[in-house]
Amino acid sequence: MAVHSKVLSFFNHKGGVGKTTTTLNLGRALYESGKRVLMIDMDPQANLTQSLGFEEMERSILPFLETDDAKDLPLIRIEEEGFHLIPSALELETAVYSLVGKADGQFKVKAIVENVDGFYDYILVDCPPSLNILALNALVASDEVIIVVDAEKFSLNNLSNVIKTIEGVQNRLNRELQGYRLLINKMDNLVIKKEINKAIRESFGTKVMQAEIHDRVAVVEATGQNLDVISYSADSSSAKEYLILAKEVISYHG
Ligand SMILES: Nc1ncnc2c1ncn2[C@@H]1O[C@H](COP(=O)(O)OP(=O)(O)OP(=O)(O)O)[C@@H](O)[C@H]1O
Ligand SMILES: [Mg+2]
Repeated sequence: MAVHSKVLSFFNHKGGVGKTTTTLNLGRALYESGKRVLMIDMDPQANLTQSLGFEEMERSILPFLETDDAKDLPLIRIEEEGFHLIPSALELETAVYSLVGKADGQFKVKAIVENVDGFYDYILVDCPPSLNILALNALVASDEVIIVVDAEKFSLNNLSNVIKTIEGVQNRLNRELQGYRLLINKMDNLVIKKEINKAIRESFGTKVMQAEIHDRVAVVEATGQNLDVISYSADSSSAKEYLILAKEVISYHG
């Protein structure tokens, strides 16, 4: 039976908060929970693509951005049955300029979603650390935006721009966008992090996901092995956290 893919993008124009790490590990956790998952790497840094061991991509998403033709969509099947990746490459940077001048320049990820819809339960889009047109493309195609925040360097000021961008897209470009939720990443037992965590929860209430991801070395080690943390160490606390996060996502989106 055909399903409508739920599209989630992982967004924050601040760098290094854990957007890519979340896309990969939540992606695997959703797959392990029985869902078919497509990850789209929309970041010219191509960290998601590289973190799975794909370094010099011969084919990237770039030709599709010109043609909208599904045969131009490179698809890496990490797990044949339904854990797939559309890779990025450094050359995607050039799309930042070419897409801006095009009438449909904001709707390219949406076009991908329409091309593959029905096969995947979840499409996860990893955004670049920017409010540029590549990130905008992700938001325009999304059902929900997950703002990944780092418990260490949280800034309310920073976040207000992110939220304004999302609300702008919601009002003008994508009526299907349900809104955003925050995911707290890199938690640990430091007093300062606990205080920041509390402040985020007090400010944003139910818009903060219950699940939290701790700062753990297993997450970094997994990346060093070109793996997600569940494949790297299924019994690790981090693997369990991402599975709990997947459960929360599924309870929300089905
Ligand atoms: N829960 C975690 N525990 C330990 N390390 C983490 C965790 N989450 C992210 N990291 C590390 O923090 C760094 C930044 O993470 P990541 O690349 O996912 O951030 P990002 O938001 O995608 O960055 P960019 O904005 O550059 O795309 C990486 O080295 C990653 O391994
Ligand atoms: Mg990233």
